[in-house]
Amino acid sequence: MTLVPNITTTVDPTHRLRRTRRTEALRSFVRETRIHPRNLVAPIFVQPGHERREPVSSMPGVERVSPDEAVIDARRLAQRGVGGVILFGLPASKDGQGTGAWIADGIVQETLRRLRDADVDLVLIADTCLCEYTDHGHCGPLRADGTVDNDAAVERIAQTAAAQASAGADIVAPSAMMDGQVAAIRAALDANAFEQTAILAYSAKSASAFYGPFREAADSAPAFGDRRGYQMDPANGREALREMDIDIAEGADMLLVKPALPSLDLVAAARARFDVPIGAYQVSGEYATLMAAAQNGWIDGRRALLETTTSILRAGAGFVITYAAADIAAWVTDTTR
Ligand code: PBG
Repeated sequence: MTLVPNITTTVDPTHRLRRTRRTEALRSFVRETRIHPRNLVAPIFVQPGHERREPVSSMPGVERVSPDEAVIDARRLAQRGVGGVILFGLPASKDGQGTGAWIADGIVQETLRRLRDADVDLVLIADTCLCEYTDHGHCGPLRADGTVDNDAAVERIAQTAAAQASAGADIVAPSAMMDGQVAAIRAALDANAFEQTAILAYSAKSASAFYGPFREAADSAPAFGDRRGYQMDPANGREALREMDIDIAEGADMLLVKPALPSLDLVAAARARFDVPIGAYQVSGEYATLMAAAQNGWIDGRRALLETTTSILRAGAGFVITYAAADIAAWVTDTTR
């Protein structure tokens, strides 16, 4: 192919953006967003027992572990410089109320005490919800018509938060999407001298298709129906901002947006609008999707995890909850990168 001779391309000298993309040294020099391991949070699923580890089939690399093993995992995460962990519990038994969530010797409380005793250098976050503890899998006790009783749920969620704070949680993270849960938790914490325990409100949490693998891991799939009566409609961005507004007014110290990639617009909008720390949760289905494609050789898993995590931070998140926290922390501190 020959070029048509009388066409000359003139690139405006100030439009030559490739100058700063020429070498990795230059690219790194102008890079706007970096992943720091301290801004990563690793989920840990804890179950009763001793020296117990079970893989979660839909999430390669993720396991359900007993409290002693959770301490081992937490130490490894701290060594890699990861910022924190968020605990989810699989109780010894379930009932209609979710009692396992708030009892003093509940599985999350036991693990929190062990992590405190081990003095691991991590922020300890407890997910505050009832769906892993109810036999019907919904996020609160049910009314006769099968819907979740909001105010009864809020009371138990507040009690759960106080138990988690008492066991050593730095942050409680209510994820049930019950109205008024943040105010009730703040009041319960303050009434029990836990005024230093922070609240990370899962404010913009939509009824997402991407929680499937989590429900396998936490054994928390609803026995009937779905969560659309309490979690948000993914179509509603303005309503998500109202949720965040209300949670801040009720006393939330930080906000969480989830799932992450389907909600990057909400992360950016929240960052522009509020001055509290904002995190995003790259949820189980997002992780499983990437890992499945990577295992098939269809994408480069490492690059995809680094790219999506960077994008979540670029959108405005200050921290990211991710199942790949341990790997990402190792990759970003690897000096060959
Ligand atoms: C508890 C809770 C869920 C997740 C976080 N907290 C499950 C749900 O709402 O069904 C999902 C996290 C993930 O998918 O990784 N309500």
